[in-house]
Amino acid sequence: MSAVEQFSFRVEPTQHSRLSQVDFNNLKFGQIMSDHMLVAEYNNGQWEDISIVPYGDITVSPSLSALHYGQSIFEGIKGYKFADGTVSIFRPDKNWERFNKSAARLQMPEVPEEIFIGGLKKLLAIDNKWVPSLEGTALYIRPFMFATEAALGVHPSASYKFVIITCPVGAYYSKPISLKVETHYTRAAEGGVGFSKNAGNYALSLYPTQLANNEGYDQIMWTDAAEHKYIEEAGTANLIFRIGDKIITPHGETILHGVTRRTIMQLAEEWGYAVEQRKVSVEELIDGIKAGVVTEAFAAGTAATITHIDRIGFEGQDYNLPPVEGREFSNKVLDYLNQLRYGKIQDPFGWNFIV
Ligand SMILES: Cc1ncc(COP(=O)(O)O)c(C=O)c1O
Repeated sequence: MSAVEQFSFRVEPTQHSRLSQVDFNNLKFGQIMSDHMLVAEYNNGQWEDISIVPYGDITVSPSLSALHYGQSIFEGIKGYKFADGTVSIFRPDKNWERFNKSAARLQMPEVPEEIFIGGLKKLLAIDNKWVPSLEGTALYIRPFMFATEAALGVHPSASYKFVIITCPVGAYYSKPISLKVETHYTRAAEGGVGFSKNAGNYALSLYPTQLANNEGYDQIMWTDAAEHKYIEEAGTANLIFRIGDKIITPHGETILHGVTRRTIMQLAEEWGYAVEQRKVSVEELIDGIKAGVVTEAFAAGTAATITHIDRIGFEGQDYNLPPVEGREFSNKVLDYLNQLRYGKIQDPFGWNFIV
């Protein structure tokens, strides 16, 4: 971040902390928000009114353009607490970069580093007691931006609101998950918005995911829009497979380029595994499971961390993966990342951003 600060932050601490009401031993995902939030307004081509204020409702106009035309993007980041009380955020620079890529695709303004990363640092300094310390817990950080112009008509909004809220969380998935290969509905097509983290990508996933849930699967495995032949990603996480002696992840502009996935692929490379980012066909996966060469499959994401996949459904048939205990690579990565994020080992890559 540049040494000269361009923006000033107004800080209004809460008079009514809700911290004592939180049961940190029993955290669910996304239910309780921390005491403060950061809010910044974009008007007339510039960012202004940047403030850290008590968490609370935001009043919006019924003609708010985000509600009608969907200019709404977000990020998901996690903060951790070390045994000595240090608060660390995992690779927030990568989320900031992705946020601004999402913004550009949706014709929204970029958020400067000083507001996104600098603001996050200030927010966590005031809410550091909200960062849980038990293993498996974290502070989930949700930056988001939406169009605030109060006018109907399809055009880029003239004004925007950028907000960061945070919440202490436990695990998103507590056991291995099952996925249904989706061969009818589509998440993203070439030239679309699949690579961006915009709200609409999640709205469109709800109905097909419900259908998969009704059939007994936890999540969907999305496939490409043109042929439904190639695997893309899961509902809220990227997919990584171990096929033969290679660690493989699907790649392309239609999937969200996850920070967790890129971290894991880098580790795999460092540890001497053969690594491939390429198209993976459903056929390759299913044949590989049948032949016993797909030995590991997992979902990777900030919320999901690393979640083992134990069953894949395709065209009415279920394919079971090998027992989770024997999965050498994914268990090693999970263990390494846990130790790194909680500050138990050295951080050779500089991934921990200390607040
Ligand atoms: C659709 C989707 N794909 C992939 C990911 C993984 O991205 P990251 O590792 O940056 O959290 C997410 C977010 O968690 C997601 O929502």
